[in-house]
Amino acid sequence: MHTIDTIYIGGAFATPQGRDRAPLFNPATEQPIGEVRLGDADDVDLAVAAAKRAFPAMARTTPAERAVMLRRLRTEVAARASDMIAAMAEEYGAPSGFTGFSVQHAAALFEDMAKTAETYEFHRKIGRADVSMEPLGVVAAIIPWNSTLGFIASKVATAIAAGSTIVVKPSEMSAIQTQVMAEAMHAAGLPKGVINIVNGYGPVVGAALSTHPDVAKISFTGSTMTGRAILTAAAETFKRVTLELGGKGPQLFLDDADLTTAIPIAAASGFVNSGQACIAGTRLLVPQSRLDDVLLGLKTHVEMLKVGPATDPAAQIGPMVSQKQWERVQSYIRLGVEEGAVLLTGGQGRPEGLARGWFVRPTVFTQVTNQMRIAREEIFGPVFCVIPSRTETEAISIANDTSYGLQSYVHGRDIDHAKRVAGQLQAGRVVINAAPHEPLAPFGGFKHSGIGREYGAFGLDAFLEPRAVLS
Ligand code: NAI
Ligand code: MG
Repeated sequence: MHTIDTIYIGGAFATPQGRDRAPLFNPATEQPIGEVRLGDADDVDLAVAAAKRAFPAMARTTPAERAVMLRRLRTEVAARASDMIAAMAEEYGAPSGFTGFSVQHAAALFEDMAKTAETYEFHRKIGRADVSMEPLGVVAAIIPWNSTLGFIASKVATAIAAGSTIVVKPSEMSAIQTQVMAEAMHAAGLPKGVINIVNGYGPVVGAALSTHPDVAKISFTGSTMTGRAILTAAAETFKRVTLELGGKGPQLFLDDADLTTAIPIAAASGFVNSGQACIAGTRLLVPQSRLDDVLLGLKTHVEMLKVGPATDPAAQIGPMVSQKQWERVQSYIRLGVEEGAVLLTGGQGRPEGLARGWFVRPTVFTQVTNQMRIAREEIFGPVFCVIPSRTETEAISIANDTSYGLQSYVHGRDIDHAKRVAGQLQAGRVVINAAPHEPLAPFGGFKHSGIGREYGAFGLDAFLEPRAVLS
């Protein structure tokens, strides 16, 4: 059993003022695996005060000094790879392919930000003006449970590159992963108070950070509904706010798509992180003329995907994080049937052979219209909606007919043509034919998928304030 009863404030692990405890579960077995003691608004005050004390010295550091800190963090994170993978497997249930990627990605984020800090133009001459990019002050990061390591890493790395200090509020469901990350950060030996971590519930610790007068900026990843609440709360004190919210990513199969490669790529993009991903491409837009071939290929491929616990090295799709999330996905599958969509494969209940655990059957709905709720709302599980289109123009218009705009996908042999289609999509990122992640390129959403961008120089911009001195 894990007992996590400390939070990290001012360079030390401390007992929270808060007295609430939340149970931790293994989502593959539904068994309790421990508990976490949660912080409250008093802990937020202490953490913000520590970050505020550390800020002036941090703001005076040079980009080169920040890069040294970032590389120390990378080293300590990389050194704990196996602990992080074990924590993620036990507490979150992610398959081995995803846990390995997540830890590498978290470590790489520090190196990416070190490089960004080294090349970023903190001082610019614009006409007679000397423009300097200044750190904002204390930053708060509020993050969800679906990629705890990566989200902590990217937000902490950007704050440090900017010369800011930070208070992180992770999900209470990610306490074991958070603990390993906190140990790595402590071992990196940064000045006290630069990084602080307070476990706690959203409406308690998250809300206290969103209204705190000494927090200058919130960087949030999570649901669109909570993003809206944070933006509203932050307005009172004019906090800068970066929001990375939900998605309902379209995947456009163009007339010339090579289905033998496009179908597995589409399945991987849609079911990434067991479908619990804002970037998941969950609306498959297929030309009417190719519909039969796509459905046949999709059914065969999806039925071959292995659902199972992290302890099974062959598992490609893991459980949902919690019973609540499992029930949410089940309710959407039920809703799809009620709305008149047709199950090509999958459906309600657990996959065959898995009597316990919050596992979902990988599900593909056909005969979906883009007006159905299953096509409009983020389900956050392995559920596809296949929507046919008569022309490419119609496919593009269906792709854009959504309140979201985070990540879209285009499948087609002719890259120039695919790029022309990509250029018409209202999305912060468009991935053509499984192009690899580009770590320094901006990431973020159009429309209700968010405000602002993360990663690289665009991500750093969002943590800085320009000052122009005229002489
Ligand atoms: P959530 O958006 O409520 O939680 C994300 C973070 O915000 C957590 O740390 C939570 O404690 C915090 N939070 C909650 N209420 C808050 C408040 N009033 N003020 C400040 N912080 C607050 O996500 P939840 O409820 O866990 O998941 C529900 C749905 O949200 C999912 O099914 C999915 O559709 C979507 N979601 C999207 C994510 C993404 O990566 N874009 C991540 C997680 C959830
Ligand atoms: Mg919520």
